[in-house]
Amino acid sequence: MSQNTAATQAALAQRLMQTIKPLVPVWLRTYYHVRREQQHDARYGTKPPGEVFSDVYHSSLWGEADEPGFFSGTGSHDPRIVEPYAEAVTALLRELPRKPDVVDLGCGDFHIGSRIRPACGRYVACDVVAPLIASNRARYAHLDVDFRCLDIAGDELPAGDVVFLRQVLQHLDNGRIARVLARLHRYQVLVLTEHLPLARDFPPNAKKRLGASTRLARMVPSGVVLTAPPFNLKPVHSRVLCEVREGAGVIQTVAYTLH
Ligand SMILES: C[S@@+](CC[C@H](N)C(=O)[O-])C[C@H]1O[C@@H](n2cnc3c(N)ncnc32)[C@H](O)[C@@H]1O
Repeated sequence: MSQNTAATQAALAQRLMQTIKPLVPVWLRTYYHVRREQQHDARYGTKPPGEVFSDVYHSSLWGEADEPGFFSGTGSHDPRIVEPYAEAVTALLRELPRKPDVVDLGCGDFHIGSRIRPACGRYVACDVVAPLIASNRARYAHLDVDFRCLDIAGDELPAGDVVFLRQVLQHLDNGRIARVLARLHRYQVLVLTEHLPLARDFPPNAKKRLGASTRLARMVPSGVVLTAPPFNLKPVHSRVLCEVREGAGVIQTVAYTLH
């Protein structure tokens, strides 16, 4: 088959899908979406996070950048989501008596981190995908960032005043979330970002496998709430910094004063 014929057939199939879509009941579309997302995660079995998230990037499960390279998802690039986050976090950091030393856990492609960098003292950015860290080192050499490849649920974490966890826990299983949480006591402030269901009365912290999907991809959507069981985080203080609606949910950022 020529490339032109294949492209025409793909375009026709896409048009057909668009025509059929409104005729398919919402519950059936949700069911297939949930099933597809969960099947992706299921294929990783008990593989370690380095392998899982290398494959997520390699298979472009979070989408693709305009230029070749790593892409951590629209949540990391859409200006509608990035700008309010960068503004709110920068304002929080500027309230502190001096530029804080920060640790960014699960830094991804560092598009977000690069926006926050000027408001920080020392910046350590960690991710479990080694080629991603190598790419960040080359791309952001001018920003004076200490990029490290480590597993935040297994390795010792770097020292700092403020820790960022942005759209990372939502991809982890509850066992790993608990292990990350147990390592956070060394920081004064946790800035946590999670993609949560729109309805505020959702069941928190539903079980999920490690992988690209989030707890939103369930018939009854869920999301990570560290202050709810089984994690029961007891911060001294908490403040919602920003919320942006995205798809069927809201991307919420909360600053927790840990001690
Ligand atoms: C959706 S991306 C978010 C990236 C970035 N925080 C942002 O908001 O743009 C999640 C990132 O967490 C990383 N990650 C997942 N599990 C990890 C682990 N156990 N240790 C370190 N990084 C991890 C993934 O490799 C991925 O780069």
